[in-house]
Amino acid sequence: MEKKVVLAYSGGLDTSVCIPILKEHYDLDHVITVIVDVGQPEEEIKNAEEKAELISDKNFTIDVKAEFVKDYIFPLIKANGNYEGYVLGTAIARPLIAKKVLEVALVEGAGALAHGCTGKGNDQLRFEAVFRSSNLDVLAPMRDMNLTREWEIDYAKEHGIPVPVTKEKPWSIDENIWSRSIEGGKLEEPDFIPPEEIFEWTRSPENGPEAEIIEIGFEGGVPVSLNGTFMDGVSLITELNLIGGRHGVGRTDMIEDRVLGLKARENYEHPAATILLTAHGDLERLVLTRRELSFKARVDDEWSKLAYMGLVDEPLYHDLNAFIDSTQERVKGTVKVRLYKGSASVVARSSPCALYSSDLVSFDESCIDQKDAEGVAKYHGFQARIYQRTKQDL
Ligand code: ARG
Repeated sequence: MEKKVVLAYSGGLDTSVCIPILKEHYDLDHVITVIVDVGQPEEEIKNAEEKAELISDKNFTIDVKAEFVKDYIFPLIKANGNYEGYVLGTAIARPLIAKKVLEVALVEGAGALAHGCTGKGNDQLRFEAVFRSSNLDVLAPMRDMNLTREWEIDYAKEHGIPVPVTKEKPWSIDENIWSRSIEGGKLEEPDFIPPEEIFEWTRSPENGPEAEIIEIGFEGGVPVSLNGTFMDGVSLITELNLIGGRHGVGRTDMIEDRVLGLKARENYEHPAATILLTAHGDLERLVLTRRELSFKARVDDEWSKLAYMGLVDEPLYHDLNAFIDSTQERVKGTVKVRLYKGSASVVARSSPCALYSSDLVSFDESCIDQKDAEGVAKYHGFQARIYQRTKQDL
């Protein structure tokens, strides 16, 4: 019987050389590739499809952008998703990609699943957390064979795999609708200043135009409109990436702790994410109680760690989502964000659920009897006072 494997395919060098390797070194007859469209550039998908046409036995391209936004990015916004300062792009796309690859494998009757991740990064863990929910074999040729880029390039040439010229641009890039990640080459040195050429979504902040104020509308904790026009999530995020990118909003250069413990130097671009997370967090401060806010910050942090690890089938992840969802019904209203030379700052917000009351806070109003606060003030430092007194007595 023909032995089939389904490979998560990007069209890049690693996943391309995986195809002949799977046949030669793993004794498989049939390699089926799956390109999952989570919003990488159309050109990249087209190139990957052309390559697949040449070197794989069968290819599927699956557009999951709408599902990615609804089931992964929207929950992330509600959770203010952020791991050590990283807005979680690659991390939240991997489980969905893996699920689609697995679905194809089940339909095609394949006996194995494969990915092109190395043994150093997080992606192997995120893919396999999903892959291993099935009984299929899991193959990771890159991890098994410890290959160098030079070896891969030679091997690709021998096997008729087109190799783009990579010497001048050695960056390893991963892109989806929410964020773009750039690693590798000289960027691996933490004291190397990233050259402008690595950025594609964002203009250099100092070259940004005049300040611009945009208005985001939220319902149920997720963005639904831009400047008064209702939009689906994919269009809204795409549009905000363009607007924010023009202002140089959403660049991150950071040292990140990978799951295995390795520290990595990472560069990211994510204009829409910066704008939406800034606006969402601000709106939450208007409508949630301070106790909800302080508890939710801990929940959000826990959520972000699970999302970073790709553990989206972990029951705790669902429990946290249930808590988060129950807080988000009231997170509705509008937020005005000012974009200017790399910054996105909230300048106005309003909500029918605001807990803020200008009547109560205002100095001019007398509906609060200020004398009522006296009793609270008397007890406010109570324990500290007792402590000071006992100290004197010692
Ligand atoms: N460090 C990020 C993560 O683990 C992004 C990795 C993206 N990969 C890349 N080749 N640029 O989620």
